[in-house]
Amino acid sequence: MSANDLTATAQAMVASGKGVLAADESTATIGKRFAALGIDSTEENRRSYRDMLLSTDNLSEFVSGVILYDETIRQSSSDGTPFPEMLAQRGILPGIKVDTGAKPLANAPGEQITEGLDGLRERVAEYVSLGAKFAKWRAVITIGDGIPSTYCINANAHALARYAALCQEGGLVPIVEPEVLMDADNTIERCFEVTERTQRAVFAALAEHRVQLEGMILKPNMVISGKKCPEQAGVQQVAEMTLQCLRRTVPAAVPGIAFLSGGQSAEVATEHLNAMNAMGPHPWHLSFSYGRALQDPALKAWKGEAANAEAGQSALYHRSRCNSLASTGGYSRELETAGA
Ligand code: 13P
Repeated sequence: MSANDLTATAQAMVASGKGVLAADESTATIGKRFAALGIDSTEENRRSYRDMLLSTDNLSEFVSGVILYDETIRQSSSDGTPFPEMLAQRGILPGIKVDTGAKPLANAPGEQITEGLDGLRERVAEYVSLGAKFAKWRAVITIGDGIPSTYCINANAHALARYAALCQEGGLVPIVEPEVLMDADNTIERCFEVTERTQRAVFAALAEHRVQLEGMILKPNMVISGKKCPEQAGVQQVAEMTLQCLRRTVPAAVPGIAFLSGGQSAEVATEHLNAMNAMGPHPWHLSFSYGRALQDPALKAWKGEAANAEAGQSALYHRSRCNSLASTGGYSRELETAGA
């Protein structure tokens, strides 16, 4: 893929009214989500769940791309069509999670480093041959007493930049995801400070590694109160502080910012995105790359039973439509009850 192709793909991922479905849970993570609903995590159940999601009629109205996991990109729909081919036929870009997970960072108690760089050039080539057009790598930054350390932020920024450079060399648009976790007891101000430090380090590393900003997508956390903080910031404050942080740190050459949901409820994640877009215009497209906030209602409706496939699909279609509207500032709460 040439630089122009990377740019065109990145722009398509955040085209007006569109965002990305993150369906790249590792086997361990999807196992936890299934276990919470009493669904067995067999390979066939994981395949039929992803088949249900990906074969939702007209999903491409709202979803530009889907991030798959290594197991999923090699699986097929019930009619035998490989998932990447099925997505392409439906006008949706197939993507792939290429990191191999966050592990404890040596000499840094409580902090993590994401692995997966060894052999990445060869894996990128294989994923391209399987039909992938973009990739994802998630770095995890934890807020706590005396953390994150500059050591942890810089180690993760360096890994993200090496990953992004290898993806672009091999023809994949990198989604660069530095996730500051939202589940501690910190204030929104503390989240702002850590997110700003993290983004600065990430963009410095991307520049050093000669990553072409026009051919990448940033996937950040929103600036938000920690889940256990007694004082929870409202929608307007989250939107204003997230935008202030992004304006300080993200160059305008980046075509799009696609947020993760990070454990926010599905409706709140939509409201936050909508509030930010209602404050536009912005230098970049602001859209979604949600996992739980798109999938949770669909998973709960499906419950592991083929008979519930349509209910699962209509839940996914509804959340995708709401987030599509939020990506242009046109969402309202009434859409949740109108049966729309
Ligand atoms: P959530 O939206 O559930 O945070 O997942 C997005 C994602 O891809 C995390 O890496």
